[in-house]
Amino acid sequence: MYKIRKAEKLADKIYLMDVEAPRVAKHCEPGQFVIVKMGDKGERIPLTICDYDREEGIITIVFQSVGASTEMMAGLKAGDSFRDFVGPLGCPSELISEDIEELKKKRILFVAGGVGAAPVYPQVKWMHAHGIDVDVIVGAKTKDMLILEKEMEAVAGNYYPCTDDGTYGHAGMVTSKIEKLIEEGNKYDVCVAIGPMIMMKFVCLLTKKLEIPTIVSMNPIMVDGTGMCGACRLQVGNEVKFACVDGPEFDGHLVDFDQAMKRQMMYKTEEGRAMLRLQEGDTHHGGCGHCGGDE
Ligand code: NAD
Ligand code: FES
Repeated sequence: MYKIRKAEKLADKIYLMDVEAPRVAKHCEPGQFVIVKMGDKGERIPLTICDYDREEGIITIVFQSVGASTEMMAGLKAGDSFRDFVGPLGCPSELISEDIEELKKKRILFVAGGVGAAPVYPQVKWMHAHGIDVDVIVGAKTKDMLILEKEMEAVAGNYYPCTDDGTYGHAGMVTSKIEKLIEEGNKYDVCVAIGPMIMMKFVCLLTKKLEIPTIVSMNPIMVDGTGMCGACRLQVGNEVKFACVDGPEFDGHLVDFDQAMKRQMMYKTEEGRAMLRLQEGDTHHGGCGHCGGDE
């Protein structure tokens, strides 16, 4: 069992939890994720790692209540436990494996949308700890929906909050802030965008025009998280990839976001899953390709 040390509400339907998971905390890196389960029969919920404390053995997760399982999770309090807490899963962020001196020469722009601030935070914190100042744009619908502000400000070189309703920071979506920064003469060698798929799609359309290489972190529906079931299948350039084992980070200019969003909707129903199996054939599954793990 994995005990919840702290449970806190950050904004409407957005929650933060510190969970005792020493083995995950010892090995995880920015960019990776965990899959949690509340009970024996509970749904498996993939969540990006927001922070980790190796000495204390703590993993911080942030999640949005969007369905029955996450709503039940939101009801957990400090002292309650998760039945399973599997991880670290996926590949660590591509940037942290680069040569530090080379990385220091780059101008890096992080763009977070809504709850996407949670997976962006450990990457920015890692950069700060390695002496790299990065620019960070965080967008939310309203000021009340902006999360992790103090934490992000403490580790970002420049922090640019944006709100869709214009009540705080830059008035408008993250893409209009990127355009503004470029108009003001800023130049970037790489952009990392994490948030809703629609945001990542439009950030990528813009950065492609601006010729800024862009990394995105994909969070399609996941079931096993080990490349077997095929739930998280994506088209990236000419290749079929599985977010849980090949990602979650990919070259944003190669990801087929329209297909990913359509697939996300289809995967929710039995009929949709049957149609995907038919359309995708042998490439429907990752891993062995024959396990039928999504059934
Ligand atoms: P949201 O809908 O409030 O959007 C957040 C910000 O994204 C907006 O303020 C805006 O600046 C930007 N944005 C949204 N649509 C845009 C568009 N069409 N063009 C340009 N910018 C746009 O975000 P939310 O409600 O927090 O989003 C929740 C979604 O984020 C869920 O679907 C969740 O699955 C996803 N999410 C993704 C990740 C990830 O790893 N990619 C992590 C956490 C959450
Ligand atoms: Fe990725 Fe199953 S969750 S293949």
